Amino acid sequence: MRIVLLGAPGAGKGTQCKRIVAEYGLLHLSSGDILRQERTAGTELGRKAQSYMDSGALVPDEIIVEMMAGAISKVPEAGFVLDGFPRTVNQASELDKSLACSGQKIDAVLNLKIDERLVLERMTGRRSCPQCGAVYHIENLKPKVEGMCDNDGTELVQRPDDSPEVVANRLKTYHEQTEPVVDYYKNNNTVYDIDANKDADEVSALVFENLDALVKA
Ligand code: AP5
Repeated sequence: MRIVLLGAPGAGKGTQCKRIVAEYGLLHLSSGDILRQERTAGTELGRKAQSYMDSGALVPDEIIVEMMAGAISKVPEAGFVLDGFPRTVNQASELDKSLACSGQKIDAVLNLKIDERLVLERMTGRRSCPQCGAVYHIENLKPKVEGMCDNDGTELVQRPDDSPEVVANRLKTYHEQTEPVVDYYKNNNTVYDIDANKDADEVSALVFENLDALVKA
């Protein structure tokens, strides 16, 4: 199965992708996570991406398309779930072209729809584990011990781009450049709109309902 998860910053893409991976055995490919790993490793790609990410702008398409094509080429038979990519119509069309070269296509697109008033609260309350990537929230998805990762006890950190100013820019960027991707897919694929305002377990139930139907089809 080849799935794309779309949604505004903080809609819960990363949270739901981790659950999809646990349920269906797909590979989770998050463009944001890959970029953050490149930055931590101090690579040229990471250095090029830094200023865009810190301001809430998109990293240029040519950098992202090449990076994600490399990641997708290593995907096992079971398939993948894409998180944060594609984020422009150009990225979506380049992805379709590159999959078509090996006779593949996107099977379904899940569009996580969230009210904007919830976004800031989710982003400023997010804490993540720098070791294993687990994501928590100080109110909604608390770790068992405050400030510590349940998986490995590492101290949780806040993402630098989760400040209110950068979140506002990320939302603006989302409306201008990523919302048109939903229409691109509506013209070419099956798009499932999911109410992402609900709590994380309820959102997962809706996601699994749609993916189960797809697996059985
Ligand atoms: P990226 O890391 O992809 O950020 P994003 O899309 O803005 O999404 P987030 O990771 O912030 O949110 P999410 O939807 O995954 O929410 P999460 O599950 O964590 O990208 C970062 C930057 O990299 C971009 O700004 C750009 O510069 C660059 N970039 C990346 N991809 C690119 C591309 N393709 N092209 C160009 N540039 C690119 O949840 C958020 C919080 O809410 C958590 O605390 C979580 O615990 C909580 N939560 C989740 N679900 C729920 C729920 N249902 N109820 C209550 N709380 C919840």
